Amino acid sequence: LYLADASLNPPCMQLPTSSPDTVASDALLVEVAWEVCNQVGGIYTVIRSKVPATVAGWGERYCLLGPYFPQAAQAEFEPFTDTQIAAGRDPIARAVRQLRQQGYEVHYGQWLVTGKPRVALLSPFQAYPRLGQLKTDLWQDHGIPSPDHDDLLHQVIAFGHLAKVFVQAVATETAAAEQPLQTLAHFHEWMTGAAIPALRREQTTARIVFTTHATLLGRYLAMNDASFYENLLHVNWEQEARHFNIETAVRMERAAAHGAHVFTTVSELTVRECMYLLDRIPDAVLPNGLNIERFVALHEFQNLHQQYKAKIHEFVMAHFFQSYSFDLDQTLYLFTSGRYEYHNKGFDLTLEALARLNYRIQQSGMEGQVVMFFITKRPYHSINPDVLQSRAMLDEVQDTCRAIEQQLGERLFYKAASSTSYQLPDLTDLVDDYWKLRYRRTLQSWKTSRLPPVITHNLVDDANDEILGFVRRANLVNNRHDRVKIVYHPDFVSSTSPLFGLDYGQFVRGCHLGVFPSYYEPWGYTPLECVARGVPAVTSDLSGFGDYVQQNVPDHEQKGIFVVQRQEKSFDESAEELTNMLWQFVIQNRRERITQRNQVESSSEQFDWRHLRQHYDRAYALALERDAVSVK
Ligand code: G6P
Ligand code: GLC
Repeated sequence: LYLADASLNPPCMQLPTSSPDTVASDALLVEVAWEVCNQVGGIYTVIRSKVPATVAGWGERYCLLGPYFPQAAQAEFEPFTDTQIAAGRDPIARAVRQLRQQGYEVHYGQWLVTGKPRVALLSPFQAYPRLGQLKTDLWQDHGIPSPDHDDLLHQVIAFGHLAKVFVQAVATETAAAEQPLQTLAHFHEWMTGAAIPALRREQTTARIVFTTHATLLGRYLAMNDASFYENLLHVNWEQEARHFNIETAVRMERAAAHGAHVFTTVSELTVRECMYLLDRIPDAVLPNGLNIERFVALHEFQNLHQQYKAKIHEFVMAHFFQSYSFDLDQTLYLFTSGRYEYHNKGFDLTLEALARLNYRIQQSGMEGQVVMFFITKRPYHSINPDVLQSRAMLDEVQDTCRAIEQQLGERLFYKAASSTSYQLPDLTDLVDDYWKLRYRRTLQSWKTSRLPPVITHNLVDDANDEILGFVRRANLVNNRHDRVKIVYHPDFVSSTSPLFGLDYGQFVRGCHLGVFPSYYEPWGYTPLECVARGVPAVTSDLSGFGDYVQQNVPDHEQKGIFVVQRQEKSFDESAEELTNMLWQFVIQNRRERITQRNQVESSSEQFDWRHLRQHYDRAYALALERDAVSVK
């Protein structure tokens, strides 16, 4: 893959064979991440979904560490009482007491998620008075310069210092315990990895694992360089880091990667980035899983599909039927979602394939249509008032129908009971003129001749938006004759949003297919999240998940996971392949789709952390085995 010489391929760990429930019984694990009790992006999903499996293996010997932000913590964190903390005899409670005695503010309690792990949260701001000194140390000890006014970097530097203090306190307590334990500290991503160089400098007894979920430079380069993968081998990291103005963070990331006893990443694709951009070959790949919760009976998740699809139907009626209608029973819902990275997330490829699919369906003469949702986040002023208005009008139509239905029902029942004839009376006679008129007026004021809008919101920068640019150029603008309709929703789906009234998981269940043919994606949870809900998904061989599936799930297509080839393929070739995949999907009949969903759902089991946790355990075992001195 991108390497002419196969011998250069990094020696990644083989699939571990250890049983998932055997973990080092003489070690205690502190897992550190910026997204503990603080949802920002995908790492939150990694940490949170892994908790039940981790707690099952490590029990009381596990604690999470993250930054304390009161707003975020409020909803997810429950502190232990002072009495509870005072009574705690384990090394973590002791470390917390030790630090509090030294004047640190340590929030210690439980993360209120499945598995209820113990968690310590440290507010970065408590170290701000020492920021000047911390920055000097970073520069003098590790050659990491830091600018004056970057608040995120300040938080990271401050938290890095506090995390170091915390891990050192835990290491002291575990060593001093009646039954001494080793301390393992597992840092995720550069933002917490900033603690690593100082820990090594202080010759910590803790064993350190560092996991990067992407490389900073890789993400920037992929967004800006159409030949990113070809050029990866020759990148001058220092120059590029300066060019993108991310030198401090990149140097922190490199220092963390080099300072860890065991360095890991999330996919084989990111391994290559690490080699060329961080100059360390990862010791292991730790693929991402989910906490898969399956129903006892298959029909239960199928029923949920039906139920949430009905909600999407409501949205679609409000959005489209004002202008023209189509048969909802013959409509397929496709979607993509993720951060707005037009090229990296493959939105460009998806749109091209949709335009070709539109043409193909038109030519084929087949019935039915596709509605494609783009769920992403872009700055907007407000929901388009017309879209909201139409939704409100449809509710009005529904209320009117219900009123008529009730009046008619009552009167018909009375007529039937009192009737001497067996003839069904003329039903329109049973409805008041008032309701007839209201019915007519409501419909009249709702129906319009303008086309259903492509986008649900008013964007701040409508003119330069790439998705809108594409659909305008391709005239894929919800014309009546278009068989692929587009709904661009530039905000995350949430149950409180007035348009869908569904949370993201419910929306996914209601759809038929997820489309994620990314160009750059270290792992990519979105297709896996579909699979976990029994919804088939498209991914690409340039996403960590797609690459994993290709290597580990031989019959993935039968299981409804489709991998678009993008490596060494032109845009046009990949677009054609994706079009074919979509075409094959839309020509299936309902029975085939139901069977496919069952297969997708059954295959989700292998992505459960109960199975994938063993990769972490192997990395921990390696960190405990490694002779500290022999590591750089
Ligand atoms: C689920 C429900 C079925 C329904 C089907 C629709 O399987 O249990 O009652 O007919 O979904 O499937 P479709 O792929 O057409 O949305
Ligand atoms: C990063 C990656 C994403 C991955 C996530 C969790 O956000 O960009 O692909 O899913 O980390 O590892």
